[in-house]
Amino acid sequence: MDKFVINGGHKLYGEVNISGAKNSVVAILPATLLAEGPCRIENIPDISDVRYMLKMLSAMGAKITMVNPNTFDIDTSYLSSHTVPYELTKHLRASYYLLGALLGRDAKARVAMPGGCNFGGVRPIDQHLKGFEALGATVDMEENAIVHAEADSLTGNSIYMDVVSVGATMNVMLAAVKARGLTVIENAAKEPHIVDLANFLNSMGADVRGAGTDVIKIRGVSKMHGAEYSVIPDQIEAGTYMAAVAACGGDVLIKNVVPKHLEAISAKLIECGAEVIEGDDTVRVISNADDLQHCNIKTMPHPGYPTDMQPQMATVLTLAHGTSIVSEGVWDNRFKYVDQLVRMGANIEVNGKIAIIQGVDHLNGCSVKADDLRAGAAMIIAGLAARGTTEIENVIFIDRGYENVVEKFNALGADMVRVPDEGDQPGRMKSAG
Ligand code: EPZ
Repeated sequence: MDKFVINGGHKLYGEVNISGAKNSVVAILPATLLAEGPCRIENIPDISDVRYMLKMLSAMGAKITMVNPNTFDIDTSYLSSHTVPYELTKHLRASYYLLGALLGRDAKARVAMPGGCNFGGVRPIDQHLKGFEALGATVDMEENAIVHAEADSLTGNSIYMDVVSVGATMNVMLAAVKARGLTVIENAAKEPHIVDLANFLNSMGADVRGAGTDVIKIRGVSKMHGAEYSVIPDQIEAGTYMAAVAACGGDVLIKNVVPKHLEAISAKLIECGAEVIEGDDTVRVISNADDLQHCNIKTMPHPGYPTDMQPQMATVLTLAHGTSIVSEGVWDNRFKYVDQLVRMGANIEVNGKIAIIQGVDHLNGCSVKADDLRAGAAMIIAGLAARGTTEIENVIFIDRGYENVVEKFNALGADMVRVPDEGDQPGRMKSAG
């Protein structure tokens, strides 16, 4: 597998453009299955999660035309199959959105259980299936890990989510938009990508209200038409670049963002001593990395501090003066990356869902690996800030969610290269997440 080699210690200056949101687009692309005509989706990030999702749609018979690397025309008027096998779903956890979209379209779906980043231990989908059953679908597990969901027709219902779940909220929205009557999702997730999906569904003629609050109401419609839609900017990609500037020092204008989506991230960087200046669709981060101060982070569902920024911010805190406490409020086990930071000289003690970080003067470059997507992002930040050279293996995980990451960081003054792994074995593709 490819690796990144970073010569650290450079401050970051200049401008970076943020791409479309991974966690929006992996739901918006399946949602095109609900349209009885072609859709044009813009601001699609050029990342491997998107390529896998497009491959699955194409395998089902969708006609997909690339207008440019960030814009695709997708026509799902005719499907050759309602089944998505494991060899396709294993690369992408978000493949489960095909279940909700196919149910919403034709009240039948056979989709193999997805892969998934291995940070969260078991990543259940019980709330997804509970939602489908509440709408009248029969759900059972078939051989080859196929989830089979089917109904004569779907009928709206009230569904209370036992846990706040981004995936389950999105999946029930997809299944409910053409169900007969009213569906109410209570204790719904409120992330920006939930709102983005709702806006796209409504642009196709759906009737989804309340997205972004914890109660979403969906009145079923009989038909949905194609639409043109542009994906929102990626909150977590933006946050990753913001954290990198804080850790390395410098002055960077981060463009094509929604500042409101970054409020929790900006607040914590300011608490650490960085300067964050908001524009209409930009944030400027200015940091003297030597003056970073400790702060505490508790990740929670939106509008709390995003769990997908936890590894990146913890990396910043390894270089902050004093003791910081990071508690993970969403996933059971999201500190696997800490071992890699400790190899670089960080002083972190993990106890269950809490990490206690004593700031150190500097990190030392060394060979590390990306255990999952956001752990990989944390390794980049650590390598950029460290003294000496850092090699990051398993960058395939990073490619899932960061478009042109080497080019974007080098344009800010980083010294980073991608090195193809000549000994790359054709072995089993590690599941992404
Ligand atoms: C989405 O995962 C994101 N992935 C994750 O981002 C993100 O960490 C997570 O939301 C939380 O924001 C995508 O959007 C593709 P959840 P998802 O359902 O939907 C439990 C990244 O780095 N749960 O909100 O799988 C679950 O175990 C990725 O971009 C159930 O118990 O997360 C977890 O503890 C990593 N039963 C909590 O809820 C269910 O049926 C939140 O999970 C579903 C979830």
